[in-house]
Amino acid sequence: MYSKIIKDIKNKYGAKLAILGHHYQSDEIIQHTDLKGDSLELARQIGNLDAEYIVFCGVHFMAESAAILRKENQKIFIPDKSAGCVMANMAPADLVEKIIEKISRQTGKKVIPLAYVNTPAAVKAVCGKYDGSVCTSANAVTMMKWALEKGDSVLFLPDKNLAMNTADKLGLDETERYEMDIRNCGDKIDMNSASKARLIMWPGLCPIHQRFKIKDIDHFRTKFPEAKIAVHPECPPELVKKSDADGSTSFLIKYVEQAPDGATIVIGTETNLVDRLAAKYKNKTILPLGQSFCSNMAKITEKNLAELLQNIETFNEEDVDDNIRIPARKALERMLEACS
Ligand code: 13P
Ligand code: SF4
Repeated sequence: MYSKIIKDIKNKYGAKLAILGHHYQSDEIIQHTDLKGDSLELARQIGNLDAEYIVFCGVHFMAESAAILRKENQKIFIPDKSAGCVMANMAPADLVEKIIEKISRQTGKKVIPLAYVNTPAAVKAVCGKYDGSVCTSANAVTMMKWALEKGDSVLFLPDKNLAMNTADKLGLDETERYEMDIRNCGDKIDMNSASKARLIMWPGLCPIHQRFKIKDIDHFRTKFPEAKIAVHPECPPELVKKSDADGSTSFLIKYVEQAPDGATIVIGTETNLVDRLAAKYKNKTILPLGQSFCSNMAKITEKNLAELLQNIETFNEEDVDDNIRIPARKALERMLEACS
């Protein structure tokens, strides 16, 4: 029933309406999308879309990023605004700003903030204000390099796993990294360590990717010695080191696509994506490293998508105040320029 409502409204609006979906969305949503992608691809596409109404099926920071990058005549919507990314909420903007100020003042160093795209607009605005930028899992290496060249040190937030996995790829020694203790408004930060570090890390993580364990990898290595294991870089570094490949959701899709027929591939990421790959590539064996659902991604359903579309002329659109939107856009544009 909801499927028919969605299809009819899509037909009625035609090119005026675009539905975008992240790869972690369920199949019932993905079937209605005009465009699907990882965080970087979806952010990049906003400026190229002619549609006036853009419905974002994903978590809130994704719709918010679209609202920052949208054209004047475009309206951005998300079916359920409460679909927040747990990790994005681990670094509140006011605390991020306080800590940048504190470290800069006490160490005399130029600290460049680099926010994972999984952050609220207000955090991206802080990055814009302090000459920093944003990255996604697809361009973290390029952006960390960019940030290291711009200042004395990089404050990477909120994902410490992505920070460490990226630092490993860049060959940044462990002695050059420091994971902050952010308690007591940053009073517990060891300024001596912060001063020596080239990479200062916020202690956030994604619980969905943290759930995978070394013993899961060991299990598959024993049971399917010929299998390849590919994981998302939000997984802990000790796990990434034991896998054969790691990358963004789009990378994982390509990895499976390009594997030869008959290959066995174990994937460590959100279950919706792994199940979809397993259903699509019947000539390969695609196995989940473990079951791990993002309950926030799951808040987007055919029901609330249909309800939004039925009321799109009056539905509360995603908007970001100019005082946040302008510096946040600057941070995102620096990323899009550096990765063009
Ligand atoms: P991607 O940018 O790789 O799609 O990842 C987004 C995300 O939230 C992963 O948990
Ligand atoms: Fe956020 Fe993790 Fe869900 Fe991705 S999988 S949206 S990082 S909570």
